[in-house]
Amino acid sequence: MRRKLLLGNWKMNKTPSEAVEFCKEAKELGKLARANKVDMGICVPYVDLVPVKKILKKSLIVGAENCHYLEKGAYTGEISIPMLKDIGIDWCIIGHSERRTYDNETSEKCNKKILALLANGITPVYCCGESLETFEANKTKEFVEEQIVTGFKDVSYDDAAKVVIAYEPIWAIGTGKNASKEIAEDICGFIRNVITKLYDRKVANKVRILYGGSVKPATVKEYLTQKDIDGALVGGASLDVNSYKELLTSLL
Ligand code: 13P
Repeated sequence: MRRKLLLGNWKMNKTPSEAVEFCKEAKELGKLARANKVDMGICVPYVDLVPVKKILKKSLIVGAENCHYLEKGAYTGEISIPMLKDIGIDWCIIGHSERRTYDNETSEKCNKKILALLANGITPVYCCGESLETFEANKTKEFVEEQIVTGFKDVSYDDAAKVVIAYEPIWAIGTGKNASKEIAEDICGFIRNVITKLYDRKVANKVRILYGGSVKPATVKEYLTQKDIDGALVGGASLDVNSYKELLTSLL
């Protein structure tokens, strides 16, 4: 049985002081989430990681939004996996479409990051998803398959199920124009079949696949009741603590 997973992605929002205010109110959510067999957490900007982790400890998942795949070196402005580990971070988003669009993040680069995170015991949340143009050309499946196949290259049989996949159609991100539950389920089911082809059904049945793109408290449940959707990666609606709480309570 796959556990449900609700992850916030703050993107470039909240100063450390704002993050602390949020966490003081959010931390008791962990108990409610656990009691209802839901894993819940937030992925936050680098400078927020230390203060957020200090307050949330293990009550909610705390993740980074990116990392470098090398251990150290002359890469000005980058953050390494050992740095994340040293402050107790064990989750990290990889390949968000905003990074693919603005920072030239390719699936090959994401693959290096996924392998490095797995080698360090950190859970990668690997994002995939197509543009409006690809969607309208009815090419979503081949596009997403390529992202998954490349992202999982050399990921071992034993490690594959540790990767969380987030299907986030670009046209649904921050637009208020969410994919219907039928579209989201169709693509998440398709992704599970790609994992079956790469590994086997046993692995595919363990991999958690999230939907992301304009998910709100009012819509979260319709996604999470789909067979192949195990959770949500939520941007805007994870920024306000009351709305973040409602993401969970609206599932109960
Ligand atoms: P929104 O929920 O704001 O559409 O963002 C989705 C997203 O990109 C999460 O990673």
